[in-house]
Amino acid sequence: MNESATQLEWVPKASEIAREAGAHLREFLAQGVETEYKGDVDLVTVADRTVEKLIRTRLGEVFPDHGIYGEEGTRERLDQELRWYVDPLDGTTNFAHGVPHFCVSMGLEHRSSDLPDDTDGTIVAGVIYNPMLDELFTAERGKGARLNGMPIRASAVPHLAESLVATGFPSRKRHDNPNIHFYQEFTLRSHGVRRAGSAALDLAYVACGRFDAFWEFHLNPWDTAAGFLLVEEAGGRIGGFSGTPFRLDSREVLASNGRIHDEMVGLFEQMFAGRDLAPIPTPREFAAMRAAAKLSGLT
Ligand code: IPD
Ligand code: CA
Ligand code: CA
Repeated sequence: MNESATQLEWVPKASEIAREAGAHLREFLAQGVETEYKGDVDLVTVADRTVEKLIRTRLGEVFPDHGIYGEEGTRERLDQELRWYVDPLDGTTNFAHGVPHFCVSMGLEHRSSDLPDDTDGTIVAGVIYNPMLDELFTAERGKGARLNGMPIRASAVPHLAESLVATGFPSRKRHDNPNIHFYQEFTLRSHGVRRAGSAALDLAYVACGRFDAFWEFHLNPWDTAAGFLLVEEAGGRIGGFSGTPFRLDSREVLASNGRIHDEMVGLFEQMFAGRDLAPIPTPREFAAMRAAAKLSGLT
């Protein structure tokens, strides 16, 4: 694709839209909004829906020939070569509880018209905006990643043991998820694991070196499209748990500063094979240990 004048506008225009969307999220947070349930703990609020509508309208105004695929149901012009993946509010659970850690995420995919449905196009632009800290993360393919206009790089931490990593847990099919085991193993092998509640910000934080890695099971393209490009453009690595290339619909994501990637892939492999798992005491075993310690006057 040759660079055109419109192409140069993708990130600036999307940034404007993300800022406007973020200002609305700030207002909604200040007012307080009612929460509805999409699933047993899958929350949605009027803010998610209103802000997706706003983004859809604004994108339609500035890029009338771009498609839009949004978490809250927007499916527009999906036959177009350019398609935005939009999460109007990533971190709804935080938002619904008044925790000021959430963002707007918008990633742009270029899909040539002859691309088979099951093949990803190229992510060419990404914008993630945290309205509470006024932090705008942007990336353009081949042009690097930025935070509020300043270039950012993934961290240089060389070993998992010196890293701060992040993960998340899905709000659907919670019982089918093994992530608590991974949480435990990575906790024991790093400086710690954060579960901050916004996958898009987790990826942006890997891109700017605040986190050294992030993984999650069961994400969606609107969570990852923008963050994927940020991580790549910041010099990090991102793909599946086995080191496979990133896929928008793969549902599993492992992102890192690149330097600790192979070590993490190795640990995933060991764990999936049932090796290297540190036993966790059950509450009952712990209660017995506690009682024994009490008896011997140790607590
Ligand atoms: C959620 C957040 C969360 C992640 C969940 C996502 P939402 O997105 O990114 O951190 O753990 O898997 O569904 O529902 O707040 O847009
Ligand atoms: Ca999300
Ligand atoms: Ca969302």
